[in-house]
Amino acid sequence: MSNNQADFIIAANRLPVDRIVHPDGTQEWRTSPGGLVTAMESVMQDRTGVWVGWAGEAGEAPEPFTTEGGLDVQPVSLSEREFRDYYEGFSNETLWPIYHDVIVEPTFHRRWWASYRTVNERFARAIADVAAQGATVWIHDYQLQLVPALVRELRPDVRIGFFNHIPFPPVELFAQLPWRRHLLRGLLGADFIGFQRSTDAGNFIRACRQLLGASNKGDVVTYQPGSEYAHNKTAINPSGTLAVADPRLVRCAAVPISVDFAGLEALAKTPAVKARAKEIRTSLGDPETVLLGVDRLDYTKGIRHRMRALTELFQDGEITTPSTTMVQIATPSRERVAAYRQLRTQVESLVGRINGDHSGLGSTAVHYLHQSYPREEMAALFLAADALLVTPLRDGMNLVAKEYVACRHDLGGALVLSEFTGAAQELTQAYTVNPHDIVGMKQNILRAINDDPQDRRARMRSLRRRVRNHDVQSWAHRYLAALAAAPDKPVRP
Ligand code: ADP
Ligand code: F6P
Repeated sequence: MSNNQADFIIAANRLPVDRIVHPDGTQEWRTSPGGLVTAMESVMQDRTGVWVGWAGEAGEAPEPFTTEGGLDVQPVSLSEREFRDYYEGFSNETLWPIYHDVIVEPTFHRRWWASYRTVNERFARAIADVAAQGATVWIHDYQLQLVPALVRELRPDVRIGFFNHIPFPPVELFAQLPWRRHLLRGLLGADFIGFQRSTDAGNFIRACRQLLGASNKGDVVTYQPGSEYAHNKTAINPSGTLAVADPRLVRCAAVPISVDFAGLEALAKTPAVKARAKEIRTSLGDPETVLLGVDRLDYTKGIRHRMRALTELFQDGEITTPSTTMVQIATPSRERVAAYRQLRTQVESLVGRINGDHSGLGSTAVHYLHQSYPREEMAALFLAADALLVTPLRDGMNLVAKEYVACRHDLGGALVLSEFTGAAQELTQAYTVNPHDIVGMKQNILRAINDDPQDRRARMRSLRRRVRNHDVQSWAHRYLAALAAAPDKPVRP
Protein backbone atom coordinates (compact mmCIF):
# COMPACT_ATOMS: atom_id res chain seq x y z
CA MET A 1 0.00 0.00 0.00
CA SER A 2 1.59 3.30 -1.01
CA ASN A 3 1.13 6.40 1.14
CA ASN A 4 -2.02 8.53 1.35
CA GLN A 5 -4.27 6.28 -0.68
CA ALA A 6 -6.94 4.86 1.54
CA ASP A 7 -10.36 6.49 1.78
CA PHE A 8 -11.45 4.19 4.59
CA ILE A 9 -9.25 3.14 7.48
CA ILE A 10 -9.88 0.84 10.40
CA ALA A 11 -7.45 1.15 13.30
CA ALA A 12 -7.50 -1.41 16.09
CA ASN A 13 -4.87 -2.73 18.45
CA ARG A 14 -4.90 -6.06 16.62
CA LEU A 15 -4.89 -6.86 12.94
CA PRO A 16 -7.51 -9.48 11.96
CA VAL A 17 -4.68 -12.01 11.76
CA ASP A 18 -1.85 -12.76 14.19
CA ARG A 19 1.58 -13.78 12.94
CA ILE A 20 2.73 -17.03 14.55
CA VAL A 21 6.42 -17.84 14.11
CA HIS A 22 7.21 -21.53 14.76
CA PRO A 23 10.48 -22.70 16.37
CA ASP A 24 11.76 -23.83 12.94
CA GLY A 25 11.37 -20.26 11.67
CA THR A 26 8.31 -20.92 9.49
CA GLN A 27 5.37 -18.59 10.01
CA GLU A 28 1.62 -18.72 9.68
CA TRP A 29 -1.22 -16.23 10.04
CA ARG A 30 -4.09 -17.10 12.39
CA THR A 31 -7.37 -15.26 13.01
CA SER A 32 -6.85 -13.16 16.11
CA PRO A 33 -9.07 -13.61 19.16
CA GLY A 34 -12.02 -11.55 20.31
CA GLY A 35 -15.25 -9.95 19.28
CA LEU A 36 -13.69 -6.87 17.67
CA VAL A 37 -12.00 -8.89 14.93
CA THR A 38 -15.06 -11.11 14.35
CA ALA A 39 -17.27 -8.06 13.86
CA MET A 40 -14.92 -5.89 11.81
CA GLU A 41 -13.86 -8.73 9.53
CA SER A 42 -17.42 -9.18 8.36
CA VAL A 43 -17.88 -5.41 8.00
CA MET A 44 -14.80 -5.23 5.77
CA GLN A 45 -16.01 -8.05 3.50
CA ASP A 46 -18.04 -5.63 1.39
CA ARG A 47 -15.76 -2.58 1.68
CA THR A 48 -12.32 -1.58 0.53
CA GLY A 49 -9.91 0.04 2.91
CA VAL A 50 -6.86 -0.48 5.05
CA TRP A 51 -6.69 -2.04 8.51
CA VAL A 52 -3.96 -0.53 10.72
CA GLY A 53 -2.97 -2.71 13.68
CA TRP A 54 -0.44 -4.85 15.50
CA ALA A 55 0.44 -8.30 14.15
CA GLY A 56 0.18 -9.97 17.58
CA GLU A 57 3.88 -10.53 18.17
CA ALA A 58 6.60 -8.34 19.69
CA GLY A 59 9.37 -7.20 17.35
CA GLU A 60 9.61 -5.62 13.95
CA ALA A 61 6.36 -5.16 12.05
CA PRO A 62 5.88 -7.19 8.86
CA GLU A 63 5.62 -5.24 5.60
CA PRO A 64 2.08 -4.15 4.61
CA PHE A 65 0.27 -7.04 2.91
CA THR A 66 -3.10 -8.29 1.75
CA THR A 67 -4.78 -11.07 3.76
CA GLU A 68 -6.20 -14.24 2.19
CA GLY A 69 -9.59 -12.61 2.60
CA GLY A 70 -8.39 -9.69 0.39
CA LEU A 71 -7.99 -7.12 3.15
CA ASP A 72 -5.10 -4.61 2.97
CA VAL A 73 -3.31 -4.40 6.30
CA GLN A 74 -0.75 -1.94 7.60
CA PRO A 75 1.11 -3.53 10.53
CA VAL A 76 2.30 -1.39 13.45
CA SER A 77 5.23 -2.66 15.52
CA LEU A 78 5.37 -3.20 19.28
CA SER A 79 8.70 -3.86 20.99
CA GLU A 80 8.86 -6.55 23.68
CA ARG A 81 8.86 -3.76 26.26
CA GLU A 82 5.82 -2.06 24.68
CA PHE A 83 4.04 -5.41 24.60
CA ARG A 84 4.56 -5.54 28.38
CA ASP A 85 3.94 -1.88 29.21
CA TYR A 86 1.35 -0.71 26.66
CA TYR A 87 -0.55 -3.95 25.95
CA GLU A 88 -0.31 -6.18 29.03
CA GLY A 89 0.28 -3.29 31.42
CA PHE A 90 -1.68 -0.13 30.71
CA SER A 91 -4.33 -1.65 28.42
CA ASN A 92 -5.01 -4.84 30.34
CA GLU A 93 -3.90 -4.24 33.94
CA THR A 94 -4.89 -0.58 34.26
CA LEU A 95 -7.74 0.20 31.84
CA TRP A 96 -9.40 -3.23 31.52
CA PRO A 97 -10.17 -3.63 35.25
CA ILE A 98 -11.27 0.02 35.64
CA TYR A 99 -13.61 -0.33 32.65
CA HIS A 100 -15.00 -3.62 34.03
CA ASP A 101 -16.21 -2.62 37.49
CA VAL A 102 -12.78 -3.19 39.12
CA ILE A 103 -13.47 -6.94 39.35
CA VAL A 104 -9.74 -7.17 39.99
CA GLU A 105 -7.67 -4.31 41.35
CA PRO A 106 -6.18 -2.02 38.69
CA THR A 107 -2.46 -1.27 38.71
CA PHE A 108 -1.06 2.18 37.92
CA HIS A 109 2.45 2.72 36.61
CA ARG A 110 3.76 5.90 35.01
CA ARG A 111 6.05 3.81 32.80
CA TRP A 112 3.03 1.97 31.38
CA TRP A 113 1.27 5.25 30.68
CA ALA A 114 4.34 6.62 28.85
CA SER A 115 4.37 3.49 26.70
CA TYR A 116 0.62 3.79 25.99
CA ARG A 117 1.21 7.35 24.76
CA THR A 118 4.16 6.32 22.59
CA VAL A 119 2.25 3.47 20.95
CA ASN A 120 -0.85 5.63 20.42
CA GLU A 121 1.39 8.21 18.70
CA ARG A 122 2.78 5.47 16.45
CA PHE A 123 -0.73 4.38 15.46
CA ALA A 124 -1.69 8.00 14.74
CA ARG A 125 1.33 8.47 12.46
CA ALA A 126 0.59 5.20 10.62
CA ILE A 127 -3.01 6.32 10.05
CA ALA A 128 -1.94 9.80 8.92
CA ASP A 129 0.47 8.17 6.44
CA VAL A 130 -2.11 5.97 4.69
CA ALA A 131 -5.16 8.27 4.79
CA ALA A 132 -6.24 9.92 1.54
CA GLN A 133 -7.43 13.54 1.65
CA GLY A 134 -10.79 13.64 3.47
CA ALA A 135 -10.66 9.92 4.37
CA THR A 136 -12.87 8.30 7.00
CA VAL A 137 -10.87 6.88 9.93
CA TRP A 138 -12.59 4.45 12.31
CA ILE A 139 -10.61 3.85 15.50
CA HIS A 140 -11.51 0.97 17.82
CA ASP A 141 -11.38 0.23 21.50
CA TYR A 142 -9.73 1.17 24.75
CA GLN A 143 -6.16 0.47 23.65
CA LEU A 144 -6.25 3.50 21.29
CA GLN A 145 -8.09 6.22 23.20
CA LEU A 146 -5.49 8.93 22.52
CA VAL A 147 -5.43 8.27 18.78
CA PRO A 148 -8.47 10.40 17.76
CA ALA A 149 -6.92 13.68 18.99
CA LEU A 150 -3.46 12.72 17.73
CA VAL A 151 -4.78 11.99 14.23
CA ARG A 152 -6.75 15.23 14.25
CA GLU A 153 -3.56 17.14 15.00
CA LEU A 154 -1.71 15.45 12.12
CA ARG A 155 -4.59 15.34 9.64
CA PRO A 156 -7.36 17.87 10.31
CA ASP A 157 -8.86 17.01 6.91
CA VAL A 158 -10.07 13.49 7.85
CA ARG A 159 -13.30 12.42 9.53
CA ILE A 160 -12.64 10.49 12.73
CA GLY A 161 -14.88 7.97 14.46
CA PHE A 162 -14.18 6.00 17.62
CA PHE A 163 -16.02 2.90 18.84
CA ASN A 164 -15.57 1.53 22.34
CA HIS A 165 -16.16 -2.23 22.37
CA ILE A 166 -16.01 -2.51 26.15
CA PRO A 167 -18.09 -0.68 28.79
CA PHE A 168 -17.26 2.92 29.69
CA PRO A 169 -17.08 3.10 33.49
CA PRO A 170 -19.02 5.37 35.83
CA VAL A 171 -17.07 8.56 36.55
CA GLU A 172 -16.49 7.43 40.17
CA LEU A 173 -14.30 4.57 38.84
CA PHE A 174 -12.89 6.38 35.80
CA ALA A 175 -11.72 9.20 38.07
CA GLN A 176 -9.23 6.82 39.73
CA LEU A 177 -7.06 7.07 36.61
CA PRO A 178 -4.25 9.57 37.16
CA TRP A 179 -4.40 10.27 33.38
CA ARG A 180 -8.19 10.57 33.16
CA ARG A 181 -8.25 14.00 31.50
CA HIS A 182 -5.69 13.01 28.87
CA LEU A 183 -7.86 10.03 27.91
CA LEU A 184 -11.00 12.16 27.63
CA ARG A 185 -9.21 14.76 25.52
CA GLY A 186 -7.84 12.01 23.32
CA LEU A 187 -11.31 10.61 22.67
CA LEU A 188 -12.80 14.05 22.07
CA GLY A 189 -10.57 14.36 19.02
CA ALA A 190 -13.20 12.18 17.29
CA ASP A 191 -16.26 13.53 15.45
CA PHE A 192 -18.45 10.71 16.69
CA ILE A 193 -17.92 8.29 19.59
CA GLY A 194 -19.97 5.09 19.60
CA PHE A 195 -20.65 2.98 22.69
CA GLN A 196 -22.35 -0.37 23.27
CA ARG A 197 -25.02 0.92 25.67
CA SER A 198 -26.59 4.30 26.38
CA THR A 199 -25.30 3.91 29.97
CA ASP A 200 -21.74 3.89 28.58
CA ALA A 201 -22.38 7.05 26.52
CA GLY A 202 -23.95 8.67 29.62
CA ASN A 203 -20.94 7.73 31.76
CA PHE A 204 -18.61 9.27 29.20
CA ILE A 205 -20.61 12.48 28.93
CA ARG A 206 -20.72 12.81 32.72
CA ALA A 207 -16.94 12.30 32.89
CA CYS A 208 -16.44 15.07 30.29
CA ARG A 209 -18.66 17.42 32.28
CA GLN A 210 -17.13 16.71 35.67
CA LEU A 211 -13.49 16.33 34.73
CA LEU A 212 -13.12 18.68 31.75
CA GLY A 213 -15.84 21.21 32.44
CA ALA A 214 -17.45 20.34 29.08
CA SER A 215 -21.16 20.94 28.49
CA ASN A 216 -23.68 18.82 26.62
CA LYS A 217 -26.98 19.18 24.86
CA GLY A 218 -28.45 15.69 24.70
CA ASP A 219 -25.82 13.42 23.21
CA VAL A 220 -23.63 16.22 21.82
CA VAL A 221 -20.70 17.31 23.99
CA THR A 222 -19.23 20.77 23.53
CA TYR A 223 -15.66 20.91 24.64
CA GLN A 224 -13.31 23.81 24.42
CA PRO A 225 -9.78 22.43 24.53
CA GLY A 226 -7.91 24.19 27.32
CA SER A 227 -11.07 25.58 28.95
CA GLU A 228 -10.19 23.79 32.18
CA TYR A 229 -7.27 26.26 32.46
CA ALA A 230 -9.34 29.24 31.35
CA HIS A 231 -9.29 30.95 34.74
CA ASN A 232 -5.75 31.94 33.78
CA LYS A 233 -5.66 32.57 30.03
CA THR A 234 -1.90 32.93 29.92
CA ALA A 235 -1.32 29.66 31.74
CA ILE A 236 0.43 26.86 29.95
CA ASN A 237 -1.59 23.64 30.17
CA PRO A 238 0.15 20.29 30.87
CA SER A 239 0.44 19.42 27.18
CA GLY A 240 2.68 22.50 26.86
CA THR A 241 0.43 24.57 24.59
CA LEU A 242 -1.06 27.97 25.38
CA ALA A 243 -4.55 27.64 26.77
CA VAL A 244 -7.94 27.78 25.06
CA ALA A 245 -8.50 26.67 21.49
CA ASP A 246 -11.69 26.60 19.38
CA PRO A 247 -14.60 24.62 20.83
CA ARG A 248 -15.44 21.22 19.37
CA LEU A 249 -18.73 19.38 19.09
CA VAL A 250 -18.63 15.61 19.54
CA ARG A 251 -21.65 13.31 19.37
CA CYS A 252 -21.57 10.37 21.78
CA ALA A 253 -24.23 7.70 21.40
CA ALA A 254 -25.01 4.01 21.78
CA VAL A 255 -24.71 1.88 18.63
CA PRO A 256 -24.69 -1.73 19.88
CA ILE A 257 -22.51 -4.04 17.83
CA SER A 258 -23.74 -7.33 16.37
CA VAL A 259 -22.86 -10.40 14.31
CA ASP A 260 -23.12 -11.49 10.68
CA PHE A 261 -26.51 -13.17 11.12
CA ALA A 262 -26.95 -14.34 7.51
CA GLY A 263 -23.38 -15.64 7.27
CA LEU A 264 -23.62 -17.59 10.54
CA GLU A 265 -27.05 -18.97 9.72
CA ALA A 266 -25.83 -20.13 6.30
CA LEU A 267 -22.75 -21.71 7.89
CA ALA A 268 -24.87 -23.54 10.48
CA LYS A 269 -27.13 -24.84 7.71
CA THR A 270 -24.33 -26.49 5.74
CA PRO A 271 -24.50 -30.31 5.75
CA ALA A 272 -20.92 -30.46 7.07
CA VAL A 273 -21.69 -28.34 10.15
CA LYS A 274 -24.97 -30.17 10.84
CA ALA A 275 -23.19 -33.52 10.58
CA ARG A 276 -20.41 -32.30 12.82
CA ALA A 277 -22.97 -31.15 15.44
CA LYS A 278 -24.41 -34.69 15.51
CA GLU A 279 -20.93 -36.14 15.71
CA ILE A 280 -20.11 -33.88 18.69
CA ARG A 281 -23.18 -35.15 20.57
CA THR A 282 -22.27 -38.73 19.76
CA SER A 283 -18.72 -38.25 20.96
CA LEU A 284 -20.11 -36.82 24.21
CA GLY A 285 -22.03 -40.08 24.69
CA ASP A 286 -25.38 -38.87 23.32
CA PRO A 287 -26.47 -37.16 26.55
CA GLU A 288 -29.99 -35.77 26.92
CA THR A 289 -28.62 -32.31 27.69
CA VAL A 290 -25.47 -30.59 26.51
CA LEU A 291 -24.61 -27.31 28.26
CA LEU A 292 -22.04 -25.06 26.59
CA GLY A 293 -19.80 -22.17 27.64
CA VAL A 294 -17.58 -20.28 25.15
CA ASP A 295 -15.42 -17.51 26.54
CA ARG A 296 -11.98 -16.00 26.41
CA LEU A 297 -10.43 -17.11 29.68
CA ASP A 298 -11.08 -13.71 31.28
CA TYR A 299 -12.19 -12.87 34.83
CA THR A 300 -14.96 -10.66 33.41
CA LYS A 301 -16.73 -13.68 31.91
CA GLY A 302 -18.02 -15.15 35.18
CA ILE A 303 -16.69 -18.66 34.46
CA ARG A 304 -16.02 -19.30 38.15
CA HIS A 305 -19.57 -18.26 39.11
CA ARG A 306 -20.96 -20.53 36.39
CA MET A 307 -18.88 -23.45 37.66
CA ARG A 308 -20.11 -22.85 41.20
CA ALA A 309 -23.73 -23.01 40.03
CA LEU A 310 -22.94 -26.16 38.08
CA THR A 311 -21.24 -27.74 41.10
CA GLU A 312 -24.35 -27.15 43.21
CA LEU A 313 -26.69 -28.46 40.51
CA PHE A 314 -24.69 -31.70 40.47
CA GLN A 315 -24.52 -31.79 44.28
CA ASP A 316 -28.28 -31.20 44.59
CA GLY A 317 -28.88 -34.01 42.11
CA GLU A 318 -30.80 -31.59 39.85
CA ILE A 319 -28.52 -32.68 37.02
CA THR A 320 -26.53 -35.90 36.77
CA THR A 321 -24.12 -37.58 34.42
CA PRO A 322 -24.30 -39.19 31.92
CA SER A 323 -27.62 -37.54 30.99
CA THR A 324 -26.18 -34.01 31.33
CA THR A 325 -22.74 -32.81 30.38
CA MET A 326 -21.11 -29.40 30.07
CA VAL A 327 -18.60 -28.33 27.42
CA GLN A 328 -16.54 -25.32 28.45
CA ILE A 329 -14.38 -23.75 25.76
CA ALA A 330 -11.93 -21.38 27.45
CA THR A 331 -9.98 -19.52 24.79
CA PRO A 332 -6.38 -18.69 25.82
CA SER A 333 -6.05 -14.96 26.50
CA ARG A 334 -3.43 -12.52 27.92
CA GLU A 335 -1.62 -15.49 29.37
CA ARG A 336 1.29 -13.65 31.00
CA VAL A 337 -0.90 -11.28 33.03
CA ALA A 338 -1.05 -12.41 36.68
CA ALA A 339 -4.84 -12.14 37.09
CA TYR A 340 -5.34 -14.33 34.00
CA ARG A 341 -2.85 -16.94 35.19
CA GLN A 342 -4.59 -17.02 38.55
CA LEU A 343 -7.99 -17.34 36.88
CA ARG A 344 -6.80 -20.28 34.81
CA THR A 345 -5.62 -22.07 37.93
CA GLN A 346 -8.92 -21.40 39.70
CA VAL A 347 -11.13 -22.48 36.78
CA GLU A 348 -9.10 -25.62 36.17
CA SER A 349 -9.23 -26.53 39.83
CA LEU A 350 -13.04 -26.03 39.89
CA VAL A 351 -13.44 -28.16 36.76
CA GLY A 352 -11.14 -30.81 38.24
CA ARG A 353 -13.20 -30.90 41.42
CA ILE A 354 -16.53 -31.20 39.57
CA ASN A 355 -15.14 -34.01 37.44
CA GLY A 356 -13.59 -35.75 40.46
CA ASP A 357 -16.92 -35.68 42.28
CA HIS A 358 -19.42 -36.18 39.48
CA SER A 359 -17.84 -37.87 36.45
CA GLY A 360 -17.84 -41.61 35.91
CA LEU A 361 -15.81 -43.79 33.61
CA GLY A 362 -16.97 -42.72 30.16
CA SER A 363 -19.33 -40.03 31.53
CA THR A 364 -17.61 -36.69 32.02
CA ALA A 365 -19.39 -33.89 33.88
CA VAL A 366 -17.35 -31.02 32.34
CA HIS A 367 -15.36 -31.21 29.11
CA TYR A 368 -12.85 -28.38 29.42
CA LEU A 369 -11.03 -27.21 26.28
CA HIS A 370 -8.38 -24.48 26.44
CA GLN A 371 -8.12 -24.04 22.67
CA SER A 372 -9.15 -21.97 19.66
CA TYR A 373 -11.34 -23.42 16.93
CA PRO A 374 -12.27 -22.61 13.34
CA ARG A 375 -15.65 -20.94 12.76
CA GLU A 376 -17.20 -24.16 11.39
CA GLU A 377 -16.41 -25.99 14.62
CA MET A 378 -17.84 -23.14 16.71
CA ALA A 379 -21.06 -23.23 14.66
CA ALA A 380 -21.28 -27.02 15.14
CA LEU A 381 -20.79 -26.63 18.91
CA PHE A 382 -23.56 -24.01 19.01
CA LEU A 383 -25.89 -26.35 17.09
CA ALA A 384 -25.04 -29.25 19.39
CA ALA A 385 -25.78 -27.40 22.64
CA ASP A 386 -29.17 -27.44 24.39
CA ALA A 387 -28.26 -24.35 26.37
CA LEU A 388 -25.49 -21.77 26.14
CA LEU A 389 -24.43 -20.31 29.49
CA VAL A 390 -23.22 -16.70 29.14
CA THR A 391 -22.62 -15.40 32.66
CA PRO A 392 -20.21 -12.40 32.61
CA LEU A 393 -19.86 -10.11 35.60
CA ARG A 394 -19.47 -7.29 33.07
CA ASP A 395 -19.20 -7.42 29.25
CA GLY A 396 -19.41 -4.65 26.64
CA MET A 397 -21.62 -6.77 24.37
CA ASN A 398 -20.83 -10.52 24.26
CA LEU A 399 -21.00 -11.57 20.64
CA VAL A 400 -20.96 -15.28 21.53
CA ALA A 401 -24.57 -14.93 22.75
CA LYS A 402 -25.63 -13.42 19.42
CA GLU A 403 -23.62 -15.98 17.42
CA TYR A 404 -25.43 -18.82 19.22
CA VAL A 405 -28.81 -17.32 18.37
CA ALA A 406 -27.82 -16.77 14.72
CA CYS A 407 -26.76 -20.42 14.39
CA ARG A 408 -30.01 -21.87 15.86
CA HIS A 409 -32.03 -21.93 12.61
CA ASP A 410 -33.71 -25.06 14.03
CA LEU A 411 -35.16 -22.92 16.88
CA GLY A 412 -33.52 -25.39 19.26
CA GLY A 413 -31.36 -24.43 22.21
CA ALA A 414 -31.81 -21.87 24.97
CA LEU A 415 -29.76 -18.85 25.97
CA VAL A 416 -28.91 -18.19 29.62
CA LEU A 417 -27.61 -14.62 29.69
CA SER A 418 -26.13 -12.39 32.38
CA GLU A 419 -27.89 -9.08 32.86
CA PHE A 420 -24.42 -7.46 33.02
CA THR A 421 -23.74 -7.94 29.30
CA GLY A 422 -24.54 -5.38 26.62
CA ALA A 423 -26.41 -8.16 24.81
CA ALA A 424 -28.94 -8.47 27.68
CA GLN A 425 -30.42 -5.07 26.75
CA GLU A 426 -31.46 -6.46 23.38
CA LEU A 427 -31.92 -10.18 24.02
CA THR A 428 -34.73 -9.80 26.50
CA GLN A 429 -36.21 -13.23 25.70
CA ALA A 430 -33.11 -14.98 27.06
CA TYR A 431 -33.14 -16.64 30.51
CA THR A 432 -31.64 -13.64 32.27
CA VAL A 433 -29.40 -14.21 35.29
CA ASN A 434 -27.41 -12.28 37.87
CA PRO A 435 -24.18 -14.32 38.10
CA HIS A 436 -23.67 -13.22 41.72
CA ASP A 437 -26.98 -14.86 42.64
CA ILE A 438 -26.09 -18.55 42.53
CA VAL A 439 -29.61 -19.66 43.53
CA GLY A 440 -31.20 -17.60 40.75
CA MET A 441 -28.62 -18.82 38.26
CA LYS A 442 -29.31 -22.46 39.15
CA GLN A 443 -33.07 -21.92 38.77
CA ASN A 444 -32.66 -20.29 35.38
CA ILE A 445 -30.29 -22.96 34.06
CA LEU A 446 -32.89 -25.56 35.03
CA ARG A 447 -35.68 -23.55 33.38
CA ALA A 448 -33.60 -23.22 30.23
CA ILE A 449 -33.20 -26.99 30.12
CA ASN A 450 -36.65 -28.08 31.26
CA ASP A 451 -39.12 -25.46 30.02
CA ASP A 452 -41.85 -26.50 27.65
CA PRO A 453 -40.24 -26.97 24.19
CA GLN A 454 -42.87 -24.66 22.65
CA ASP A 455 -41.87 -21.85 25.04
CA ARG A 456 -38.22 -22.41 24.33
CA ARG A 457 -38.83 -22.24 20.60
CA ALA A 458 -40.88 -19.07 20.98
CA ARG A 459 -38.04 -17.46 22.91
CA MET A 460 -35.48 -18.51 20.32
CA ARG A 461 -37.67 -17.21 17.49
CA SER A 462 -37.89 -13.82 19.15
CA LEU A 463 -34.14 -13.71 19.91
CA ARG A 464 -33.39 -14.55 16.29
CA ARG A 465 -35.71 -11.83 15.03
CA ARG A 466 -33.83 -9.26 17.08
CA VAL A 467 -30.37 -10.34 15.90
CA ARG A 468 -31.51 -10.74 12.27
CA ASN A 469 -32.90 -7.17 12.26
CA HIS A 470 -29.86 -5.74 14.03
CA ASP A 471 -26.94 -7.54 12.42
CA VAL A 472 -23.36 -6.38 12.06
CA GLN A 473 -23.94 -4.93 8.60
CA SER A 474 -26.76 -2.70 9.88
CA TRP A 475 -24.56 -1.78 12.86
CA ALA A 476 -21.73 -0.60 10.56
CA HIS A 477 -24.21 1.24 8.38
CA ARG A 478 -25.76 3.04 11.37
CA TYR A 479 -22.35 3.85 12.81
CA LEU A 480 -20.94 5.25 9.58
CA ALA A 481 -24.11 7.25 8.86
CA ALA A 482 -23.85 8.80 12.34
CA LEU A 483 -20.18 9.57 11.74
CA ALA A 484 -20.91 11.19 8.38
CA ALA A 485 -23.66 13.30 9.95
CA ALA A 486 -21.72 14.21 13.10
CA PRO A 487 -21.61 17.93 13.88
CA ASP A 488 -18.31 19.31 12.68
CA LYS A 489 -18.70 23.05 12.92
CA PRO A 490 -17.18 24.65 16.00
CA VAL A 491 -19.73 26.68 17.93
CA ARG A 492 -18.64 30.00 19.28
CA PRO A 493 -19.87 30.39 22.86
P1 ADP B 1 -14.55 -10.76 23.71
O1 ADP B 1 -14.48 -9.71 22.65
O2 ADP B 1 -14.46 -10.22 25.09
O3 ADP B 1 -13.57 -11.87 23.51
P2 ADP B 1 -17.10 -11.66 22.54
O4 ADP B 1 -18.07 -12.68 23.02
O5 ADP B 1 -17.73 -10.36 22.16
O6 ADP B 1 -16.00 -11.48 23.67
O7 ADP B 1 -16.33 -12.20 21.27
C1 ADP B 1 -15.58 -13.38 21.28
C2 ADP B 1 -15.36 -13.84 19.84
O8 ADP B 1 -14.33 -14.81 19.81
C3 ADP B 1 -16.59 -14.50 19.24
O9 ADP B 1 -16.67 -14.17 17.87
C4 ADP B 1 -16.32 -15.99 19.44
O10 ADP B 1 -16.95 -16.84 18.49
C5 ADP B 1 -14.82 -16.04 19.27
N1 ADP B 1 -14.26 -17.14 20.06
C6 ADP B 1 -14.34 -17.31 21.39
N2 ADP B 1 -13.71 -18.43 21.77
C7 ADP B 1 -13.21 -18.98 20.65
C8 ADP B 1 -12.44 -20.15 20.38
N3 ADP B 1 -12.05 -20.99 21.35
N4 ADP B 1 -12.12 -20.42 19.10
C9 ADP B 1 -12.50 -19.58 18.13
N5 ADP B 1 -13.21 -18.47 18.31
C10 ADP B 1 -13.56 -18.15 19.56
O1 F6P C 1 -13.39 -6.12 22.76
C1 F6P C 1 -12.54 -6.52 23.73
C2 F6P C 1 -11.17 -6.92 23.29
O2 F6P C 1 -10.22 -6.48 24.18
C3 F6P C 1 -10.72 -6.47 21.92
O3 F6P C 1 -10.21 -5.17 21.86
C4 F6P C 1 -9.71 -7.49 21.66
O4 F6P C 1 -9.34 -7.62 20.35
C5 F6P C 1 -10.33 -8.76 22.22
O5 F6P C 1 -11.08 -8.34 23.30
C6 F6P C 1 -9.32 -9.83 22.62
O6 F6P C 1 -8.36 -9.32 23.51
P1 F6P C 1 -6.81 -9.27 23.15
O7 F6P C 1 -6.65 -8.49 21.89
O8 F6P C 1 -6.18 -8.62 24.34
O9 F6P C 1 -6.38 -10.69 22.97
